[in-house]
Amino acid sequence: MKILAIETSCDETSIAIVDNNRLIINRTFSQIRLHQAYQGVMPTIARRAHEKFLPILLTEVLKQSHISLSSQACSCSFCQDKPEKPISYIDCIAVTTGPGLPPALETGVRFAKHLALQHQLPLIPVNHLEGHLASIFLKRKSGTFYLPSITTLKYPHLALIVSGGHTELILTNKTAYGLKHQILGQTLDDAAGEVIDKVGRELGLGYPSGPVLESFAKNGNPQAFHFPLPLKNTRQDNLNFSFSGLKTKAVQIIYQSHQIGTFTNRPNESSVPSWSSQQIYDFAASFQQAVIKAIAFKVKRAMHQTGVYQLSVTGGVSANMALRKYLRQVVKQQHGRLYAAPKKFTGDNAAMIGLAAYWDAQRHKPVFDPDKIKTIDRQPNLNF
Ligand code: KG4
Ligand code: ZN
Repeated sequence: MKILAIETSCDETSIAIVDNNRLIINRTFSQIRLHQAYQGVMPTIARRAHEKFLPILLTEVLKQSHISLSSQACSCSFCQDKPEKPISYIDCIAVTTGPGLPPALETGVRFAKHLALQHQLPLIPVNHLEGHLASIFLKRKSGTFYLPSITTLKYPHLALIVSGGHTELILTNKTAYGLKHQILGQTLDDAAGEVIDKVGRELGLGYPSGPVLESFAKNGNPQAFHFPLPLKNTRQDNLNFSFSGLKTKAVQIIYQSHQIGTFTNRPNESSVPSWSSQQIYDFAASFQQAVIKAIAFKVKRAMHQTGVYQLSVTGGVSANMALRKYLRQVVKQQHGRLYAAPKKFTGDNAAMIGLAAYWDAQRHKPVFDPDKIKTIDRQPNLNF
């Protein structure tokens, strides 16, 4: 089954083709540069960039895969070496319907519906979070990416999604109808990536701050600054996360060291503390460690509560090697195993959406009826 997948839930425009469990091609345009000046994702800019880059990426993906948008295969002498396959070579269109930024989702959903209706192809609406879960199966083998059998991963397992929009701990199990997800805990305020970006902004690290924070942290002392462990004194069965306390503490440290008072005395946005490089590295290491410990604390609790020691970690923040190392130690202590996506696929991409759609097609029939396709809409607050 060949699926053309589309992802536009936030600030990456991405199109991929998967063939059953094999990734044929994935092309992503990252909008980071467009949002950098605003130190965060601007919904209108995201929408316009998706509108501009979806047709460009589609043309490139089809050209690279020798697929023509026409319904007839081309038999001209030019195409004889690498015959153009007709668009009917694709069996299905898949698109992220949620969760995500409404104007961003809307653009991708409209584009996918148009493609499906124009070429009489069925459509698979995909939950973006299920896409992240699928990303751990994108492994490189002999020059191509492939999806190994789902059975290589033991079930049930704990799935941790850590991104700019989500921090969720999920218990994933296999049933006769496919995978079943149960949310064990989620953030009560900011997501892990969101808080990293907000604190990074105060430090002048630019947007997104995660990769810079990680590289600075490598040169710093994680004990230099003290941060509290969030939700430490909650009941044992509380598996939710909270990062806003860490954010407040981080901003207080920055402002106090700058001798400019606290939150109520906020300096202008471009203000950066007058720290030495080493102090910034130490702060980065301490803050990163605090975020990692807050995540790991709840992972350990979830393992204790469920008796499940297989853990997958996905989403943009899972690119952080210090986080992976820490979680690997946690699962090793319990003789479990950590599964993580290749770094290239930790952020948003259509490859993972294509794989999630392939799973979904085993469970439900894709939507064939044009009248039903027309009713498919964005679902910004979708969850499991
Ligand atoms: O999954 P993603 O690309 O987009 C969302 O769906 O949100 O995640 C983006 C988030 C940003 O907050 C970014 O700062 C963070 O992932 N991030 C990192 C690293 N690389 C990206 N956080 C920590 N360490 C990294 N190396
Ligand atoms: Zn995401």
